[in-house]
Amino acid sequence: MQTSTHLQAVPVVRTADLTEVSESMLDRDVAGLSESIKQACLGEADLVPYRVRQALNHALDAKTSAHLVEQVLALPHSTQSYTRHILHADPAGMFTVVALRWDANQASPVHAHYTWCAYRVLRGELTESHFEWDRSVEQAYLFNRVARSAGQSVCGHGGMDFIHRLGNEHAQTAVSIHVYGIDSARISSHVNRKLAVKLEVQA
Ligand SMILES: [Fe+2]
Repeated sequence: MQTSTHLQAVPVVRTADLTEVSESMLDRDVAGLSESIKQACLGEADLVPYRVRQALNHALDAKTSAHLVEQVLALPHSTQSYTRHILHADPAGMFTVVALRWDANQASPVHAHYTWCAYRVLRGELTESHFEWDRSVEQAYLFNRVARSAGQSVCGHGGMDFIHRLGNEHAQTAVSIHVYGIDSARISSHVNRKLAVKLEVQA
């Protein structure tokens, strides 16, 4: 049996803006988190994304999250795309912490990661679409969509086994915090591997 599933995509995908905060907003607003992430990075390599995710979950209780969200929403932002704010750049270049602001109908491209990542939703609700890579046509196809509400967190290693897209399909502005295993100077070039998408799924 052959069925056809069309992507229910967030309508517009544009290149994200990136802003850099001069000091570590993370150290100012979330005590101890950058040190916890650093310690996770120094541990067993296979466990790094999971331990970073644990560090996010431990440090970002409701009150701390609300305060950080307030600070992030006060920063300049794009109306044309989701906006990334670098909250913390590890001096040794092991990781970078970024806050993402997602206004209604803003979404990332479909991408894999060159590096490990962990994220947590702080405000609103994101939709995470999961894709599989079809080597025969070198395109990704959609196989699952999941709602990620405030308080939920996700992590993964780099590579083609973790292909996704995040987007905000709701009116309320969403905010999420992401950690990537790379230095801040390469955050725009060495995190997301954008992929072609197959618009129909055969089952
Ligand atoms: Fe991603």
